[in-house]
Amino acid sequence: MTRIVSFSVLSVVFLDAVIGGFVDSAADIASAYDFIVVGGGTAGNVVANRLSEDPLIQVLVIEAGGSNERLNGIEMPFLLAPAFDTTYSWNFTTVPQPGLGGRSLPFARGFVLGGSSSINGMIYSRGSAEDYDATAQLTGDEGWAWDNLQPYIRKASLNERWAEPVDNHPTSGQFNPTVHGLAGITSVSLPPLAKALDRQVTQTTEESPEFQFNLDTNSGNQLGIGWLQSTITSEGRRDSSATSYLGPSFISRPNLHILLNSQVTRLLPASDESDDDTSIFDLTDTPGTAGPKHVVTAKKEIILSAGSIGTPHILLHSGIGDRDELSNLGISPTHHLPGVGKNLTEQPAVNNVWLVDSTSNDPDVSGLPAGFFTHIGFLRIPDNASIFETVEDPAPGPNTARIEFNSVVVDPISSVGSLSITTNVLTPISRGSVTLNSSDPLDDPLIDLGLLEHEFESFTMREAVRAAQRFLDSPAWDDYIIGPSEALASVDFKNDSQLNAYVRKNAAPALHPVSTAAMSPYNVSWGVTDPDLKVKGVQGVRVVDASVLPLIPSGHTQAPVYIIAERASDLIKLAWNITV
Ligand SMILES: Cc1cc2nc3c(=O)[nH]c(=O)nc-3n(C[C@H](O)[C@H](O)[C@H](O)COP(=O)(O)OP(=O)(O)OC[C@H]3O[C@@H](n4cnc5c(N)ncnc54)[C@H](O)[C@@H]3O)c2cc1C
Ligand SMILES: *[C@@H]1O[C@H](CO)[C@@H](O)[C@H](O)[C@H]1NC(C)=O
Ligand SMILES: *[C@@H]1O[C@H](CO)[C@@H](O)[C@H](O)[C@H]1NC(C)=O
Ligand SMILES: *[C@@H]1O[C@H](CO)[C@@H](O)[C@H](O)[C@H]1NC(C)=O
Ligand SMILES: *[C@@H]1O[C@H](CO)[C@@H](O)[C@H](O)[C@H]1NC(C)=O
Ligand SMILES: *[C@@H]1O[C@H](CO)[C@@H](O)[C@H](O)[C@H]1NC(C)=O
Ligand SMILES: *[C@@H]1O[C@H](CO)[C@@H](O)[C@H](O)[C@H]1NC(C)=O
Repeated sequence: MTRIVSFSVLSVVFLDAVIGGFVDSAADIASAYDFIVVGGGTAGNVVANRLSEDPLIQVLVIEAGGSNERLNGIEMPFLLAPAFDTTYSWNFTTVPQPGLGGRSLPFARGFVLGGSSSINGMIYSRGSAEDYDATAQLTGDEGWAWDNLQPYIRKASLNERWAEPVDNHPTSGQFNPTVHGLAGITSVSLPPLAKALDRQVTQTTEESPEFQFNLDTNSGNQLGIGWLQSTITSEGRRDSSATSYLGPSFISRPNLHILLNSQVTRLLPASDESDDDTSIFDLTDTPGTAGPKHVVTAKKEIILSAGSIGTPHILLHSGIGDRDELSNLGISPTHHLPGVGKNLTEQPAVNNVWLVDSTSNDPDVSGLPAGFFTHIGFLRIPDNASIFETVEDPAPGPNTARIEFNSVVVDPISSVGSLSITTNVLTPISRGSVTLNSSDPLDDPLIDLGLLEHEFESFTMREAVRAAQRFLDSPAWDDYIIGPSEALASVDFKNDSQLNAYVRKNAAPALHPVSTAAMSPYNVSWGVTDPDLKVKGVQGVRVVDASVLPLIPSGHTQAPVYIIAERASDLIKLAWNITV
């Protein structure tokens, strides 16, 4: 790779000509900043916080969505509501998924300050140590290995702050304090009302060797069933990157600027930087656009943190991607990088529902709150499963799960309530993509998740659903579970084709897409960024968000995103000799 293209200028469209909360008007935007962070989401706000620790460094965050303020006051158990409020979502729809019988599915991404951390399920799950070690091996950078990331994972004053659960119940025996940070920025806590289904789950782990109790599934050794940890404060409120990393003591920094309701359309080559770079263009004559256009310059670096959909979308509209595919759309290629938007990896999930007796005399289960997660399980399918005769195991090692259980009591109010165990296939083999539908940057991209396309995923999902039934077959549940819900009741669990049909009909995305701007070793032609997260063959642009993860973590993605964003911030500071 010889050609180096340098980008330092961003083209921004104010979506509704309203310039949000923090930077008050277009006139307040300087023509240049040291760093411009594109996307005030989970990762972007970490980077903005860390870089602005040096008061001499000017940082601008540009976020397409609006303020998260209205989400802040929402308390348990309604914390999940934002996930269903389209006002805070990009409202994407996938292309038809062959593995799901041709269904197209809604695909939420945060469209608000805090990004997906403002609307997600708040599950805090790091994956296994082997996930990180595999990434280090794949990229050739030992800095991404589990042991070497420890300072970023848990050291005091870094990303994780352990919080007492809202009802202050004793938490001993529910997590391992030695694997957590105590004085970080984002709160992590155990569920309140800890008695909910406690007896049933604990008894199941005692009765069944298949479902061993794990004191802390975030220790690097994730296998087993443990108490769920969530990004919730001691006051029972969501802790997103907007409430934590942009909390009051940070947002008041005079060198940290946040611009809301403004969508970055493309990166412009540095040579296009005009003297008149504060000028505002009217773009209303361009189809699909709204509001004035603005161009702003990064003196040091542009940090793309627009997420696994947004980041490749911006790169492609900037002409960075597969040369031929861009030319076919009428976009002039500026840098041939065929990996952009490719290799999208997403976990399929099925919400399996059983009917429960809510009038049970058991005091533990009567009056359980709705929509409440209490435990999480990370399980393998047997190593001698027939699928491995023909398919190479995608799990990175023997201590990594292949399937996940997370459960939620959906409706305990009526006399027949329901309990669901959501089963995820954690390490799918199928790959999807983010591609462009048109040359208009305000058009949605085409999102193909490749869900359940490979036989490995249908095999593993069948085993996951069977494992969930075995879990509830434990005597611990006898007085509570009535039987499978309608969707499951007609399925013969021994019959693969019937389970396949059930899975195809009911699977949905876990909302954990990664790898669309994946890291790869230095000096290889595949992948999108180098291990230091700089876009290959391009100067002045780094990617810091879920899209750089070359392998999907065997868990959820929020914690890994916080972790990589912390290390990325240090890499950037090191590169620019920022020592504060
Ligand atoms: C509904 C939902 C539930 C989830 N539940 C969980 C969970 O319980 N646990 C878990 O670990 N993970 C969960 N996830 C996944 C997790 O939240 C994400 O993987 C993670 O937050 C992604 O972080 P990110 O920084 O890569 O992107 P995001 O946090 O999505 O940030 C990207 C930001 O960039 C902005 N942006 C995009 N394009 C542009 C542009 N052109 N110009 C300006 N701004 C732009 C977006 O508006 C957004 O604010 C969930 C995700 C969703 C959507
Ligand atoms: C999603 O839909 C809602 C409701 O229609 C809308 O308010 C919001 O702006 C949409 N989000 C995007 C990114 O278009
Ligand atoms: C996808 O990733 C694999 C490595 O995991 C790599 O070999 C391949 O080239 C990538 N595909 C593209 C189109 O970049
Ligand atoms: C896998 O091994 C277990 C225990 O040794 C055995 O009971 C089971 O039949 C084996 N399964 C297959 C598919 O070989
Ligand atoms: C892609 O473009 C076509 C033609 O304009 C349009 O019908 C379709 O809805 C677009 N797809 C998406 C996902 O926006
Ligand atoms: C599995 O179910 C399908 C569809 O109901 C049926 O046609 C098939 O005979 C069943 N297979 C076995 C082995 O029972
Ligand atoms: C990549 O290749 C260039 C040119 O061949 C070389 O100078 C550089 O040291 C290589 N980088 C790494 C990290 O191997």
